Amino acid sequence: MSKVFSAHAVSVDGYISGRDPSDPSGGFGRGLGDAPMLFDWYRDGDTPSRAFDNFRLSEPSARIFDALAGRVGAVVAGRTTYEHSSHWGGDGPHPTARLFVLSHRPAPEMTERQTLITTGIADAIAAAREAAGDKDVGLMGGGVVTEALRAGLVDELILHQVPILLGGGRPFFQELPEHVELRLIEAVPAPGVTHLRYEVVR
Ligand SMILES: NC(=O)c1ccc[n+]([C@@H]2O[C@H](COP(=O)([O-])OP(=O)(O)OC[C@H]3O[C@@H](n4cnc5c(N)ncnc54)[C@H](OP(=O)(O)O)[C@@H]3O)[C@@H](O)[C@H]2O)c1
Repeated sequence: MSKVFSAHAVSVDGYISGRDPSDPSGGFGRGLGDAPMLFDWYRDGDTPSRAFDNFRLSEPSARIFDALAGRVGAVVAGRTTYEHSSHWGGDGPHPTARLFVLSHRPAPEMTERQTLITTGIADAIAAAREAAGDKDVGLMGGGVVTEALRAGLVDELILHQVPILLGGGRPFFQELPEHVELRLIEAVPAPGVTHLRYEVVR
């Protein structure tokens, strides 16, 4: 069965966006508010990504990043991530994966390449699994990841941990009703980022 995972660039104090992330105009990383440096490692290297045009990473980061990108067959993104990413211009965050956006509200601007789900995280992940086929489902947004953890639907958490304390912003993890045990599968230090891959123990 395909896996459900999330991979986020996160500060050491646990934020996936900085302050005031509501204005995504101004280009790559601006949807992160005052913390565009969370994405610097996507562009600071010499190794072109095989999955994403214009990404040039360090060699270890390219290896990790492209392996993850290759796993993704569909994406479930939270409404806030979708808004802060300027709706990905009517497309999605991944070159080939189908996008599902989780929200409680209508989204009349959506294109035929995007699907709105308003009936909850389990339905969103089920629809994404079907679209993904043999591939995996990627989750985007702290709220969505937390909802999926609450529902016991997450297999892996990947933190691309950037060495900065942002001091505020949008947290990766929100309140959970109980502990979630993790097992570290891989830790790869790279220039400007450490890649931490955890399995959710169930
Ligand atoms: N650093 C990174 O790698 C990275 C990656 C992805 C995103 N981000 C950033 O993360 C931020 C967004 O994360 P976030 O945690 O604030 O929000 P989010 O998870 O993207 O979206 C939260 C929204 O999703 C909808 N939602 C969540 N659970 C739902 C449910 N069970 N049923 C229906 N709708 C549900 C709700 O939308 P409604 O209010 O419409 O109902 C909720 O307000 C953005 O700033 C984005 O740029 C960073």
